[in-house]
Amino acid sequence: MPDRYHPALVVLHWLLAFCLIGLLIAGSTVLAPLPNTDPAKLISFRLHMGLGLITLLLMVLRLAVRLTTRRPAPADTGNAWLNRLAPATHWALYILAFTMALSGMVFSRASGLPDAVFGAGAMPASFDHSARTLHTIASRLLMALITLHIAAALWHQFIRRDGLMSRMALRRR
Ligand code: HEM
Ligand code: HEM
Repeated sequence: MPDRYHPALVVLHWLLAFCLIGLLIAGSTVLAPLPNTDPAKLISFRLHMGLGLITLLLMVLRLAVRLTTRRPAPADTGNAWLNRLAPATHWALYILAFTMALSGMVFSRASGLPDAVFGAGAMPASFDHSARTLHTIASRLLMALITLHIAAALWHQFIRRDGLMSRMALRRR
């Protein structure tokens, strides 16, 4: 078994970490609080929707790479329950990232937002839709899971000191 993830998966992991964390922070602190009448909202939407769609494409690529490449043996935490939690968290991160992109596409299309953002259509008055609610709920779950994931990575690296970070790095240990 290899001692680290495939280089393509490593590159995609860090690229997507950057995109997802950026979308989560900017989406909840800049985009959502802006009133629809503010001209800055249009620019924010262009960036958010553009990066959101790129993120979706990169996630599809990542899933394909993940399913077709060999990966290191599951990390041992010394606790059977925690050992089961790690893969469950990883799959939940995939599911939530896809939920974010797909729900975003569904409710923005339903409100006619792409016409306003990428064409000459008028800005919708509201985005009321069940997929809009899902976008918010999934974003908070994703924030919580990413926090747990980062805490676990730091715990492995600095408390358990098992060199886990090097499995998600391009250079060999
Ligand atoms: C600064 C932030 C992050 C750090 C320090 C970090 C660290 C790591 C490390 C060390 C691993 C290897 C774990 C192992 O070998 O068992 C890993 C795997 C993984 N990370 Fe992260 N990560 C970060 C952000 C993210 C984000 C934002 C996501 C969201 C999707 C994510 C999703 C995953 C997944 C799904 C895996 C398992 C490999 C795979 O199936 O792609 N990580 N991460
Ligand atoms: C893939 C990753 C994505 C992430 C992590 C993300 C994250 C977020 C977050 C955190 C919010 C604020 C939610 C709130 O506080 O209620 C938000 C709002 C929004 N997102 Fe996304 N998003 C993503 C993709 C997309 C895509 C692909 C689209 C559309 C094509 C989209 C369209 C929107 C819209 C229209 C809003 C509403 C802003 C408002 O209510 O004024 N998002 N997003």
